[in-house]
Amino acid sequence: HRDLIGIGQLERHEILFLLDEAEQWVALNRQATKHENLLSGLTVINAFFENSTRTLLSFEIAGKRLGADVVNMHAAQSSVKKGETLIDTAITLNAMRADAIVIRHGSSGATQLIADKVDCPVLNAGDGQHEHPTQALLDALALRHALRARGAAAEDFTGLTIVICGDILHSRVARSNLLCLQALGASVRLCAPPALMPVGIEAMGAEVFHDFDAALEGADVAMMLRLQTERMSGQFIPSAREYHHLYGLTKERLDRAAKDALVMHPGPMNRGVEIDSEVADMIDRSIITRQVEMGVAIRMAALDVLTRRARGVAGWGEAA
Ligand code: CP
Repeated sequence: HRDLIGIGQLERHEILFLLDEAEQWVALNRQATKHENLLSGLTVINAFFENSTRTLLSFEIAGKRLGADVVNMHAAQSSVKKGETLIDTAITLNAMRADAIVIRHGSSGATQLIADKVDCPVLNAGDGQHEHPTQALLDALALRHALRARGAAAEDFTGLTIVICGDILHSRVARSNLLCLQALGASVRLCAPPALMPVGIEAMGAEVFHDFDAALEGADVAMMLRLQTERMSGQFIPSAREYHHLYGLTKERLDRAAKDALVMHPGPMNRGVEIDSEVADMIDRSIITRQVEMGVAIRMAALDVLTRRARGVAGWGEAA
């Protein structure tokens, strides 16, 4: 692949390849000196048309740790505000001869649209309700690390039951994780209020729940998602109190899951709404900060692998 647009484009072995590639960067990132020169001389543009803390910063850190020149374009301060179209913005970025472009955009499909107009690899940092592939990859790496720390072999997630609970309808994280976790052998339960569950999602192989207590029964992992109120217009918006009552992960609720079940959240969290602080901060069960740590390593792996062709190095099993 030239680009990383979605988990849907990846085979299971390619997902495992990226996770394995990221391991060296987890190790490097834990050292006092974190610098590598693999991407020295290359330019990475982070073009973010939506807000971000984790994804933007970790792509910037990832590029810099590999020696690339990294520049960030924030849409709010760009000529997008003067009416420039997405395609003209893409052509403009391309003319600057970037070696990789990382895009976050509010519209599903925007990343592919840009990829079709530029000559370098494009990495999707989240496009509308479509996909957020590096999030799913970092989630898989964090889960694998947590399982291995408990002594499991954890080559993949065969035999695990993972509940993804929250605003599934608007969640690119849910879609990418569903694809990634299933590709790695997990059984996925999706849980949301009926109005926040995509119609027909069962066709993707997930078990659908509207009762969170039932969804949690015996589960090995609870992955919580926030309500994306910024994507809700003219539709059902539950109150924070009502939502927490039915779908918030409390300590009592977590007791329904398997003993020692792990807790995940891609962030940003709304404490006291979809997750209680008591659960989010559990030292032995919550891997939320480990997810953030793995984000840098996964983005280093993605930038390395996708720029290999330009560097004359074989990647994704193809000749250079
Ligand atoms: N998980 C995630 O994408 O976070 P940001 O919106 O802060 O990048």
